[in-house]
Order: sequence, then C-alpha cells, then structure tokens
Amino acid sequence: MKKVITYGTFDLFHIGHVRLLKRLKSYGDYLVVAISTDEFNKLKGKESFCSFEERREIVEACKYVDEVIPEYNWEQKELDIKKYNIDILGMGNDWEGKFDSLKNICEVIYLDRTENISTTKIKKELSVITPDKVKELEISVNNIFDIIKSISKVNN
Ligand code: CTP
Repeated sequence: MKKVITYGTFDLFHIGHVRLLKRLKSYGDYLVVAISTDEFNKLKGKESFCSFEERREIVEACKYVDEVIPEYNWEQKELDIKKYNIDILGMGNDWEGKFDSLKNICEVIYLDRTENISTTKIKKELSVITPDKVKELEISVNNIFDIIKSISKVNN
C-alpha cells in the first residue's frame, strides 16, 4: 500500500484544499493529513477561525482523507514518515524546496496551488465593510433610536 502525507492548517476549508487533497490521494492508496494544532499556529503567528478539533472534523469528512493527525511542530515530519511508513510527502508549491532534506527517507513532491484562493484571502474579503453594509447599519441604529424615543414618550 502506497502512503502519502501532507501538512497544513486547513482553516475555512476551501476549493484549493479539496483539489490538493484529491491530487495527493491520486498518488497513493492512503492519505494522512497532519493538521497544525492551535498552539503550533500561534508559534507560526497564525490564528485560525476554526479550532483544531473543528478543522480535524472537517478534513476527516473529506473523502480523499484516510487519517488525520496533529502537527505540533516543524520537526516531527521525519518521525511521522517513519511511524506511518510514508512513501510520499506532498505539499502545495508555496513550500517548493522547503522539505527537500527529507528526500533521503521518502519521495517529496510539490503540487501547483489552486489560483486565486486562500484562507487569508477569504478572511480579508469577508472583513471588508461595504458602503451598503454601512447604510444597513445606519438604518438599524436609527430604528433602534426611534423605538427608544417612542418608549420614553409613552413613559413620560
Ligand atoms: N493550498 C493549495 N491551493 C490553495 C491554497 C492552499 O494547494 N489555493 C495548499 C497549500 O499549498 C498547503 C495546503 O493547501 O499545502 C494547506 O494550506 P493552508 O496554509 O492551510 O491554506 P491557505 O489557504 O494557503 O492558508 P493561508 O492563507 O492561511 O496561508
């Protein structure tokens, strides 16, 4: 049985993640996904929207994934590769060359990322307050003021 492993945060699970996992699975028979714990994310300067347990549950629900394990630190890859009898370590090409030192214990591949999507981009786009949203908020606030005024009139 050919085993593949990959590492990542996988927050706000998106199409780039699905495509990467689908392609990785096609390289073997069994796909292990190591997901960064919340503590490890902190070390990397990242804060995920979904907790580790939620991200684990979401990734486990993906049909290309056979097993999810926690990623606690940068150094565990070599141990994981040996422990899980991994044949291929696969990552998106934003990591190109970064794990070449592991080529002496398994095959290391870097796959093209899906263009135009990332967790960072989703977070950024959803955090923008548009003029329409400002107008909606203004209307809601004015309505609340009207209600307060009418209540205070009744009470006087
Ligand atoms: N990935 C991908 N295509 C994308 C986004 C991510 O192939 N458009 C891959 C990454 O290369 C990595 C894995 O998915 O191997 C997990 O990446 P992760 O960092 O969790 O996702 P990003 O969307 O890149 O998150 P962020 O913006 O926080 O870096």
